Amino acid sequence: MAKKSKLVFACKECGHNSPKWMGKCPGCNAWNSFVEELDVSKVRPSRRAALNTPTKPQRIHEVQPLKSSRIGTGIGELDRVLGGGIVPGSAVLLAGDPGIGKSTLTLQAAHRFAKATGKAVLYVTGEESPEQVKLRAERLDCLGNELFVVAETMLDAIRNHIKELEPALCIIDSVQTLYDSELPSAPGSVGQVRECAAGIIMQAKSMNMPVILVGHVTKEGTVAGPRTLEHMVDTVLNFEGEKFQAYRLLRASKNRFGSTGELGVFEMRQEGLVEVENASKVFLDEYDNTRSGCAILPAAEGTRVLLVEVQALVSPSPMSSPRRRVTGLDQNRAHMLLAVLERRAGLKLSQMEAYMNVVGGVVVDEPGADLAACFAVASSAQEVKLPPATVFIGEVGLAGEVRTVTHMQGRLDEASRLGFTQAVVPKLRGENVRAPEGFRLIQIGNLREGLEKFYLVE
Ligand SMILES: Nc1ncnc2c1ncn2[C@@H]1O[C@H](COP(=O)(O)OP(=O)(O)O)[C@@H](O)[C@H]1O
Ligand SMILES: [Mg+2]
Repeated sequence: MAKKSKLVFACKECGHNSPKWMGKCPGCNAWNSFVEELDVSKVRPSRRAALNTPTKPQRIHEVQPLKSSRIGTGIGELDRVLGGGIVPGSAVLLAGDPGIGKSTLTLQAAHRFAKATGKAVLYVTGEESPEQVKLRAERLDCLGNELFVVAETMLDAIRNHIKELEPALCIIDSVQTLYDSELPSAPGSVGQVRECAAGIIMQAKSMNMPVILVGHVTKEGTVAGPRTLEHMVDTVLNFEGEKFQAYRLLRASKNRFGSTGELGVFEMRQEGLVEVENASKVFLDEYDNTRSGCAILPAAEGTRVLLVEVQALVSPSPMSSPRRRVTGLDQNRAHMLLAVLERRAGLKLSQMEAYMNVVGGVVVDEPGADLAACFAVASSAQEVKLPPATVFIGEVGLAGEVRTVTHMQGRLDEASRLGFTQAVVPKLRGENVRAPEGFRLIQIGNLREGLEKFYLVE
């Protein structure tokens, strides 16, 4: 068989196959979505057949429940995002920008896992030499007896190492460096990454060994190569943060064994990533209530509430179309809020530049942030500071109405715990929300009414 015939092209959006490359996908009309792929039907049936354990249909009530034996990685924040530990046989993709700390996190997890279980952990590095990994391990205090490291990129060699060592956890750093010489495509190509990842995942499943695949994110924000990698793994974790700030956030965008709403918070230090349990406190560290334009939002992130500071700066613009810049909030939503403030609350903003930001590099993507954002803008525009020890929770509609949001109770409790004493909230109708002790709820029906209460509109 000619090598060439192994290649097909597939649309990475809809999966449409074609023997030749096409600029526009006839399936979903996406442009430039075709990538080279392997025609799996023509590739090494022997390997696939050998790995496939024979299956047998069984009566549904005879199916034995899976022994849900999650294993703690020894890093609480990582376990939280995974859903309470790593599931044996599962494949986890850890994606993030270069330099964000993926190698650091996985090395620390590998070490703690090995220490806690007393079993071997294999750290496969395709980007660094064992010496470099050791240097890092020394800095991170990760020199354990059961932590094995190998610098290898060839798929078959890695599979052999796994077979011989039988580690309790395997880490591949990174999946983009994997290479299988039997495949015709070049190292790093979509076909290579995909097939090699599949090879490792299949082996992991057959040995009931969890595997963490590290993946770099490309400029376009996708895990380099195929989005299909995300379909192959059980859990996709995204490691985010501003490179020049110390805080790193870990979220799951897919989790077959748990929720995707959980958030893990770390701080990058010389000695590695340190778990931040009291994250709200951290993000409020420099909060200073004597300035205008700052509003505190208890943001709901999974089962955790994170208090963050939403800031706005509004100033007269010399330009005919004033600049608007938004970081940490949804851009479109922020523009909508500025329009609502102008039209429904009577704030004169159209000739003003407006900058909005969430402190600490946090990205808040929920409508519950609307009210805090609006109050921050109004406070800056009027140069009136907001009342002390107050948080703002609520969604703002196009008519200027303030709507209720999820996790009210949790948000209020967390705010109270951190010393806040009042909250501006939507009108609570029938919701089972109780104000924490000594805490005042200021219920408002619409934005204008709320702003008037605090002298933020004439
Ligand atoms: N000696 C050091 N002291 C403190 N932090 C360091 C040191 N070396 C690297 N770092 C931090 O680690 C980061 C790189 O982490 P790494 O785990 O290699 O990222 P990734 O694997 O995601 O590319 C750097 O951006 C820096 O913040
Ligand atoms: Mg790395």
